[in-house]
Amino acid sequence: MSEDRTDLVSPLHAQLRAATKQPHHALDHHPLLAPLVRADPQQADYAAALAALHGIYALAETAMMEFLARHPGLFDYTPRHRLSALEADLAVLDKAPAPIDATLPMPKNIGELVGMLYTIEGSTRGGQFIYRHLQQRFGDAIPLSFFAGYGEASERRWEEFWQFADANCSQAEFPDAAQSAVQLFGLIEAHLDRCYAAFTVGRTS
Ligand code: HEM
Repeated sequence: MSEDRTDLVSPLHAQLRAATKQPHHALDHHPLLAPLVRADPQQADYAAALAALHGIYALAETAMMEFLARHPGLFDYTPRHRLSALEADLAVLDKAPAPIDATLPMPKNIGELVGMLYTIEGSTRGGQFIYRHLQQRFGDAIPLSFFAGYGEASERRWEEFWQFADANCSQAEFPDAAQSAVQLFGLIEAHLDRCYAAFTVGRTS
């Protein structure tokens, strides 16, 4: 959806957007996520999507925080943590997180960190869209703190991320950023595929 927009973005942003255009299409059409934006989403679809997303944010936040802990003052990720909101939503829904069978090494340089941050911070963009849709459908009847993301701070946080990325990712590291983003999109798709297969085993209809 976003990828066809023609707004002015930095050269780094344009490269990351182009590199992840196809992998993003695979996610926004994925059978675990697409139901969230259909006309009549069901609470069970929502709980299944959150259970599957848990492992991704657990791995990615750990990998990024490990890198940032070794580079004090580089980027303040603290207000951006979303795993605890996701876990709070799952607890209210009485749904267990799905296990994740993947590993995500710590980024090896700022380029790789930027690729991961792009993927995870960018997911809040679609998350806002999903949030509004679910809020319209369910009102306050389901917990939506994960998809609510940064609320009114969303635009500002996205801009601040780009200020950081454009100032710190050298052109020589653009390929690392793109490769790391594509790799994380691939990990997400593979994990969602495995979750979808596991969730549908034993279903009769
Ligand atoms: C974990 C899964 C997902 C990831 C990692 C992800 C990642 C991203 C990224 C990186 C961007 C920023 C694109 C850019 O401007 O450069 C983005 C934007 C967007 N995504 Fe996703 N996405 C995910 C799931 C979804 C789903 C399920 C939808 C549902 C339809 C969706 C819809 C959108 C939309 C509408 C935008 C543009 C929002 C805007 O620019 O205001 N995404 N996503």
